[in-house]
Amino acid sequence: MAEQHSSKSIMWAVIIAAAVLIAIIFPFTVKHTGSAADSANSSDESDVRIQPVAKFELAKVEAPAVSSGPKDGLTVFNSVCAACHATGAAGSPKAGDKAAWAPRIAQGKDVLYKSALGGKNAMPARGGAANLSDDEIKGAVDHLLGLVK
Ligand code: HEC
Repeated sequence: MAEQHSSKSIMWAVIIAAAVLIAIIFPFTVKHTGSAADSANSSDESDVRIQPVAKFELAKVEAPAVSSGPKDGLTVFNSVCAACHATGAAGSPKAGDKAAWAPRIAQGKDVLYKSALGGKNAMPARGGAANLSDDEIKGAVDHLLGLVK
């Protein structure tokens, strides 16, 4: 009886040890050989699962307002307009530079909105972010004007 019992325990110990070994080794063999059709499928699948995330991140950098709700002026400014207006690049009036903005402000807010929406000289329409709504662009203009009040 005792003998039978212990041989049963050994059998289970061996089965469990084998299962553990397989569980540990199997992923490595799959990765190294790439032979199992399943592993090819699953790596294809993981590529597919990774890609949309990567694409989304890229899209987010280029066009911040694609996927979520309306952006506020500060967000639009930081992600789009700051490329030029933070430094005054391309001859743009620098954010916060009262002297640069005074003659612009004198034109009236509607002219500024129109320039930001439709572009002006070196500034592309909507700062190049064609996907942004009118309100988002106007919010960014308001943010710029708020900096030089
Ligand atoms: C590619 C660079 C660039 C980007 C990006 C850019 N601007 Fe400009 N912006 C300019 C330049 C250059 C001017 C000056 C245009 C001129 O008067 O010749 C300007 C002028 C302006 C003016 C004054 C327009 C006027 O009629 O005097 C406003 C307002 C303005 N930008 C808002 C924005 C907003 C809001 C954004 C973001 C949505 C933005 N800009 C993004 C380059 C840029």
